[in-house]
Amino acid sequence: MAAPPDPDQPRTVQLAAAILQHTTSIESYLQQNGLPSPSFAPGAPPKLPLPPNVEQQLAAALGALDELNALLLGPMGWLLNQVGHAYDLCSLHALYRYKIPAQLAVGEEVSVAEIARRCDADEDAMARLVQHAVTNYLLVRPRPGHVAHSATSAMLANVPVLHDFIGNVCEDMWPSAHKVVPALAHTAWPGAAADGATAAKSGRPPNQTAHNLAEGTDVPFFETLKGDQERARRFASAMSMLQTMPGFEPTAALEAYDWGALGHGATVVDVGGSAGTFAVALTDKHPDLHVIVQDLPDVIDKARAELPARSADRVALQSHDFFTPQPVTSADAYFFRMILHDWSDDYCLRILRQLISALKPGARVVINDLSIPPPGATTLYEERQVRCKDIAMMAMFNSKERTMDEWTGLVAEADPRFRLRSVVQLPASPIGLIEFTWEPEPAPAVAEAAE
Ligand SMILES: C[S@@+](CC[C@H](N)C(=O)[O-])C[C@H]1O[C@@H](n2cnc3c(N)ncnc32)[C@H](O)[C@@H]1O
Repeated sequence: MAAPPDPDQPRTVQLAAAILQHTTSIESYLQQNGLPSPSFAPGAPPKLPLPPNVEQQLAAALGALDELNALLLGPMGWLLNQVGHAYDLCSLHALYRYKIPAQLAVGEEVSVAEIARRCDADEDAMARLVQHAVTNYLLVRPRPGHVAHSATSAMLANVPVLHDFIGNVCEDMWPSAHKVVPALAHTAWPGAAADGATAAKSGRPPNQTAHNLAEGTDVPFFETLKGDQERARRFASAMSMLQTMPGFEPTAALEAYDWGALGHGATVVDVGGSAGTFAVALTDKHPDLHVIVQDLPDVIDKARAELPARSADRVALQSHDFFTPQPVTSADAYFFRMILHDWSDDYCLRILRQLISALKPGARVVINDLSIPPPGATTLYEERQVRCKDIAMMAMFNSKERTMDEWTGLVAEADPRFRLRSVVQLPASPIGLIEFTWEPEPAPAVAEAAE
């Protein structure tokens, strides 16, 4: 247990004490378990392997560090710091575009001029980008004018999905960031109000986004991908990287929900289930369940080729557009994993209402998606990570991340006969699992009031 902060000390000292306390606990855990101290040396673990209780100390240390940084910089310094961050991705982008990590051997020290030569790039510009990368721990500087691998660049060289993820961030997502605000007041789109008021309920279509402004296209991002095989491959690869992040792994949703309670032989529809990764994991753990994975036709064609033989009699694949009526009637559960955050409220309402004609009384609707923590439930640092994702969703799709209240409000608006049954927030992750049941007979108001 962390000792409470000394109220007689200034806030900065309280924060510094908390950082020392948490960091000491983390280091003790690592030492006791024969694990190395945190490091950026090539080969260092990409993430500290901590159990949930120590993970909480890490979150507290990082939150305190962020606040201390802001306080010590002061209002003006903190503001200027934000401005600097706007350029941070430039050197990472250079590393990605010129595949610099792949051009360095581990242990090799290379002059910045040699890096520029290997990249066939302007020497002065490349040297400056590479030196910036050093300041961001992306490379190390063993001696002046030279660079070598850090743990980060070594990972970028050796983990193709990470390389693809950075490519997706730098080349698909980042160009839209500076168009988020102009897109609010872009009046040339059909239906856009001069003051941007049509976006008030996030009802703007997915082809009127910051991304559309940035790329000068009027088709949604996913349509663009269909016409560009390499970009589509990189996006799919980047998404598979996300599946390894805490809470995003299929196993997290397996453990957070009592799938066995659906009953022997129950049917689960995985709406927008992509290649069936979750369905395979679910039926491996619960072989008596039947899962129908639904997605767009080209995704299902690909999934058909990839489905493991052991899952063939438990996992069915079905082409289905979730903006049309649900074809699987009377399933026990309809599962939406990382689907609805891709869509604004109006589109989510349409998706959810397409279920109604198929639902039997008591059917479950389970939403497994990000949830923005309520104010004060986490440090501002943690909340900022989720809010950055929220702005990215706005930029790319005019969609959003939601708080638990927004999730429950959204489903209630789709139809009041969806009744909230349970809410689970996954540990050390922004992911939640929200379960509703379909109750066509409204519960009597008197009985409810008496509870
Ligand atoms: C973010 S991915 C989530 C995939 C999967 N549920 C998971 O958790 O890995 C969104 C999925 O929705 C699918 N999708 C998009 N529009 C769709 C539509 N109109 N009907 C059905 N699926 C759709 C995409 O093809 C993609 O597989």
